[in-house]
Amino acid sequence: MDKNYYVTTPIYYPSGKFHIGTAYVTTLADMLKRLKKMQGYDCLMLTGVDEHGQKIEDKAKDENMSPQEYVDVQADAAKKLWKTMKIDYDIFMRTTDEYHCKAVQEIFERFLKQGDIYKGEYEGWYCKPCESYFTETQLVDGKCPDCGREVTKMKEEAYFFNMKKYADRLLEYYNTHPDFIKPEYRKTEMINNFIKPGLEDLCVTRTSFDWGIKVKSDPKHVIYVWLDALTNYITALGYLSDDDSKFKKYWPADVHLVGKDIARFHLIYWPIFLMALDLPLPKTIFVHNWFVMKDGKMSKSKGNVIYPDQLIERYGLDATKYFLIRELPTSQDGLFSPEEFVERYNFDLCNDLSNLLNRTISMVNKYFDGKVPEYNGLQNEVDEDLEKASKDAITNFENEINNFEFANSLKAIWSYISRTNKYIDETSPWALAKDEESKEKLKSCIYHLVANLREIAILIRPLMEDTSDNMLRQLGMSNNVTWDSLKEYKDIKNTKVIEKGEPIFMRLNADKEVEAIKDMMKK
Ligand code: MSP
Repeated sequence: MDKNYYVTTPIYYPSGKFHIGTAYVTTLADMLKRLKKMQGYDCLMLTGVDEHGQKIEDKAKDENMSPQEYVDVQADAAKKLWKTMKIDYDIFMRTTDEYHCKAVQEIFERFLKQGDIYKGEYEGWYCKPCESYFTETQLVDGKCPDCGREVTKMKEEAYFFNMKKYADRLLEYYNTHPDFIKPEYRKTEMINNFIKPGLEDLCVTRTSFDWGIKVKSDPKHVIYVWLDALTNYITALGYLSDDDSKFKKYWPADVHLVGKDIARFHLIYWPIFLMALDLPLPKTIFVHNWFVMKDGKMSKSKGNVIYPDQLIERYGLDATKYFLIRELPTSQDGLFSPEEFVERYNFDLCNDLSNLLNRTISMVNKYFDGKVPEYNGLQNEVDEDLEKASKDAITNFENEINNFEFANSLKAIWSYISRTNKYIDETSPWALAKDEESKEKLKSCIYHLVANLREIAILIRPLMEDTSDNMLRQLGMSNNVTWDSLKEYKDIKNTKVIEKGEPIFMRLNADKEVEAIKDMMKK
């Protein structure tokens, strides 16, 4: 079996602070990498910044900086955020790095030589923030169909990529590779909106600004930022460099994670570029939805933006990451609201998870002097049902992950947590403790609770490592766990839990915290 795993995030435009929406995809990539690592895969995660283009040139000018100075500052800020979020990436791409620029130039020359790229003249409607040209018919109410902003008419000598040539091949690829696009409905969108109406050739150079990679054989042209950016997924691995060992090992990528706004670039242009390079296509491209606010898109002018570092500072990293993954469904956009954030914190993290740990630890101390009783094989219907729930939780979690249903994967863990809480009510250990004859039943009950908590600590580990460490420490267990540790359900004898449990999540004062988050949004 192929035991390598290569996961990528988009590379970000370095234009200011990343809000919680933009932090979503990096959190997700990090979770997937950590999960695969626990499952024994040799993993590589790529993230980084997309540093060229007119938008960056303009921003630098606004800040009285050279573009290079500007992107240097921004790249450092991005790295700082990923450090705060403990993102375990392996490669941080900067598209201004020389090795990348050289490879992009070579790729362009190859396309020229093959006749995939030809010279022509471009006239069309240009959206500056999106760095995209549109035809008259693509505009929505005369505005950019992607971002809704003003467009301007522009004409320039330019190079074009012959997309039409590859349209049939792309469609055929979609139809023969059911795992290529997830979720499925994004494939239908691409076919109906772009491929069926007929693919337009893509303008792949600009002359209206300077900040980009120059065409080697015609340096007054700058290579289109999307051709530059998309190739980062292979140049990061050393494609066309002296050392392409990573490329040989990790390509094709297991999954590119991308937001819905950049689906077209990844689902149409990128596979076509790869076909033209005669390279295998990524195994899956997963398109996620967006976090929106009650009043629509997050924007500074609306005063409704929330940044991950604000939430992390007040509520901790794991609670923030939990919310991000739990609240973004695959089928539609996810809503960020202060009320929902506080509710998830109080119910899921505090009531369900933290209290389960606390109650269990206090019972192990009270009834067994802190030592987990040995499993006595005593089974009743409730125990059987609980053990089945344990098996189901692991399978359900894995199935949801494999189906790219990430919010549901957490739901599967939390229904297991609820099931375990219910088990306490069903077995009433405090009543069992009163009667010497029920001692064996009590042993079985406490044993099962500890065993479940251990599993829960392992299941949440890819997303919430600090919480997992904390739980295992309180349970008196090593954090040296892998995914296989989940199979050893009964291997917890001789553990001694800590004497006094420490709550991992403390109940929040809902009204006060909702106000606090609203204040953060205004800042
Ligand atoms: N530079 C390009 C990507 C090039 S990849 C070869 C780009 N950068 S970006 O900074 O604008 O966006 C980065 C990612 O953040 C995109 O996947 C985008 O969909 C995502 N998000 C931006 N706002 C978001 C939300 N409100 N919610 C979720 N994701 C969001 O695009």
